[in-house]
Amino acid sequence: MTTPDTIDRPAPQTQHGSIGTALPRVDGPRKVQGEARFAAEVALDNMLYAALVYSTIARGRIATLDTTVAEAAPGVALVMTHRNAPAMAPPALFLTEPLAAGPSSLPVMQDDSIHWNGEPVALVLAETQEQADHAASLINVTYEAEPASLSFDQAAVHARHPDSVMGEPPLLELGDAEAALAAAAHKIDRIYETPRHSHAAIEPHAATIMWDGDKLIIHDATQMLNATRWTLAGIFGLQEDQIRILSPFVGGGFGGKGLWSHQILAIAAAKMAARPVRIGLTRAGVFRITGGRTTTRQRVALGAKADGTLAALIHTGTVAMTTHNNCPEQFTFPAKHLYAADSFRLEQHVADIDMVANTFMRAPGESVGTFALESALDELAEALAIDPIELRRRIEPAKDPTSGLAFSSRHILEAYAKGAERFGWANRNPVPRSRREGEWLIGMGVATATYPYYRMPGGAARITLTKDGRARVEMASHEMGMGTATVQAQAAADCLGLAPEQVVFDYGDTAMPSGTLAGGSSQTASIAAAVAAATTQLITELLQLAGNASPLAGLRPDQVEPRDAGLASREQPDRFERYVSILSRAARDDVCAQADAPMPTEMGEHSMHSYGAQFCEVRVNAITGETRVSRFLGSFDTGRILNPRTATSQFRGGIIMGLGLALTEETQFDERSGRIMNPSLAEYHVPAHLDVPHIDIIWTGHPDPYAPLGAHGIGEIGITGVAAAVANAIYNATGRRIRDLPITLDKLL
Ligand code: MOS
Repeated sequence: MTTPDTIDRPAPQTQHGSIGTALPRVDGPRKVQGEARFAAEVALDNMLYAALVYSTIARGRIATLDTTVAEAAPGVALVMTHRNAPAMAPPALFLTEPLAAGPSSLPVMQDDSIHWNGEPVALVLAETQEQADHAASLINVTYEAEPASLSFDQAAVHARHPDSVMGEPPLLELGDAEAALAAAAHKIDRIYETPRHSHAAIEPHAATIMWDGDKLIIHDATQMLNATRWTLAGIFGLQEDQIRILSPFVGGGFGGKGLWSHQILAIAAAKMAARPVRIGLTRAGVFRITGGRTTTRQRVALGAKADGTLAALIHTGTVAMTTHNNCPEQFTFPAKHLYAADSFRLEQHVADIDMVANTFMRAPGESVGTFALESALDELAEALAIDPIELRRRIEPAKDPTSGLAFSSRHILEAYAKGAERFGWANRNPVPRSRREGEWLIGMGVATATYPYYRMPGGAARITLTKDGRARVEMASHEMGMGTATVQAQAAADCLGLAPEQVVFDYGDTAMPSGTLAGGSSQTASIAAAVAAATTQLITELLQLAGNASPLAGLRPDQVEPRDAGLASREQPDRFERYVSILSRAARDDVCAQADAPMPTEMGEHSMHSYGAQFCEVRVNAITGETRVSRFLGSFDTGRILNPRTATSQFRGGIIMGLGLALTEETQFDERSGRIMNPSLAEYHVPAHLDVPHIDIIWTGHPDPYAPLGAHGIGEIGITGVAAAVANAIYNATGRRIRDLPITLDKLL
C-alpha cells in the first residue's frame, strides 16, 4: 500500500457532528456488567497455568537448580528452565527498528547467567494456578553471586551519555549558559531527585496463549500489538502472519504493557507442553519483571535579570538505566521549548545499574523533568518577588527557543489566566506559612504541564460501508481505558457524515490493518490520520459505484464531501446521494476501502506540544507533617477536545497519578541486593480515594491547525507539572522547599 497522494496533510477538520460531544463510553455497559473479557479471562480448552520463579541475586550465575520435587508435585505438566528452554533470539530493542518492542535486549532464559534480582529462572506449568504456584515454591536454586552495580551514587560517578535520548542528542548547548549563569544578577541552582516507580495498572500483565500447529494465537494485555507481533516473530523465527495477537481490553497500560519476558516464556512453554497456557503475573511479578520509571538526579540552574527574563537555563542530570535497554527518561525535554532564555545547556547522563530494564511510564521524562524545572521556576519567582504566573508570562517565547520552529498552537498563558481565575489564585498570599487553620498550614502552588504532540508513522485503516447505512472502521489499535473505541467512532462518524451509533470502531486484533502503538499520547492522531486517508479512498470507490445515473455523476473525489449519510458536491450541495442509494443501485452489499496514514511530517515543520497550568491547594499538618491535597485544578491547552467526558477522565487520571508521584510512590530498591523491597500495593502507595479531592478540569479547546482533527493526544499531560504544583503549594504552606520526591511526612518535620 502507498500513501494516497491526494493527502499531504492530516485530516481536514469537520465543522459539525459528534466530535466534541460527551458521548458515554461505548464499552461502558460491557465493562460494568463484567462482559468485557481481559487477557487473563480467556478460557481455552485443556489450558495450563503458569507460575514463575525469580532470581534472588542481582548478578552472577545459577550454581544449582533442583526441579525434581516440583516436577513430581501434583498437577505439574512442565518445568522449564535454561536447561530445556528452546533457543530464542533476543528481543529487538525498542527504537532500534520501527517495530522493535523489546524494553530489553537481554536473551530470555538462554543460559545460567543472572542480570537482575527478579529475573525469571524457571517457569512451571500445571493444571491449576494453585498447583503451579505451589510447585514453583518447591524449586531449589542456589547462585554464585558476582559484584553488581547497585548503588546509584557509585554508578553516577561513571555516568555516560546515552547513545540518544529518544532519538535526540544527549547534549544541547546554545550559547555559554554556565558563564551567563555566573554573571546573572539573580540565580537559582538546585538539585532535585525523583525515585524509581513501578507500574501499578489495575490489571496485572497477563497473556493466554495457544499454538495451532505452527500458528500462534496470543490473547495479550498490550499497548503495542503490531510491534509485539513483529518482535515475537524475530524471537521465535516465525513469519508475522503466523502470529495473531488479540487485545480488545486492557486494564491500564501507562507505558508498562509492552513485551516482557512473561509472554516470551509462556509462548515457549506452551509449545513444549503442546497445550494452551495462561500466564498472569502476580502483583509482585509485575514489580520483578516489568520495569517502570527510573531514578533521576537533576540540576536546574536559572540565571535571571532583574525583570525575570532568563540569561541562562541549565537542566542537566543523571538517571539510572541498564546497559541493555533504551529508555533514558527524557527529563530535559520540557526545557527545550517552554521558556525563552539567552542561553541553554540541557544534558542527560545515564548510570548503569543491574536492575530490571526501566521503561516508559506515563509522560516519561516530562513528569519528573517538570518537577525539577517547575520547582526551580517557583524558587526563582520567590527570589525575585514576582508572582510565578507573571514570571512565566515574562519568559513566554515567541517561537520554540531551541529549535527555532514556530509553534503550531500554543495558548499556555490563556490556560494560566483561565485557571487562575477559576481557582482563585489572587487569594494566595505569597508569604509562606501565612495561612493556618488550627493544626493545618494551607498553601497554594502552580506549575506548568507539558507533553509533546506525537503522531507515529505507519498505521492503516479499513472502512466497510454496508447497505444498511452503517460503517465499520478497523485498525489494530488499543483501548486501555482511554476511550479509544468511543472517540474514534465519533471521529469516524463525522468523517463519514454518519451518526456515531451508525459506526463501530473495531480494534485490538492484529488480523486488522496495522495500528501504531498506544504510546507517547499519539494514538488518537495516528488513528484519525489513517481514517481520513481511508475515507478519501472510500469516496473514490463510492463515486465509481455511483456511475452516470447518480446526481454525483462526473464529480471527482475532491469535489465531494460526506454528509447526511451520503456524498454531496462541495459546490452544489443539492447534488447529493445517500450511501444506501449508491450501494443499492450498484447491487452491492457493501463497499470497502483501506489506506495508509500519511507520514507525520507536521512534527518536523512546527514545534508541536500540549500545555497546561496545574493549580494545587494543600493542607499540611504542622504537628505530623501529613499533606492533604484539598483542591486541584488542571487548565489544559491540548488542541480540540474530542469528547469532554473521556477527556476529563484522562486529565483527572493523570493528575491522580501525579499526586502519587508527588506524595507517596517510591519503589524501594535495596542497594545491597538489588531486590525491590515493596512489591505490593500494600507497600507501594498509589493514591486511594481519600487521597484525591475533587479535581476541576478546564481547557482552552483551540484546535491545532496542523494536527488531524485539530486534536492532541491527552493521555500523558495530566501527570506533568503535578509534583511541582504540589511541592510549590507545600512551600507556600510551610516555608519548606522539598526537592526530593515523594514528599513524605518525615521530610516536613
Ligand atoms: Mo505512554 S508512557 O507512552 O503509555
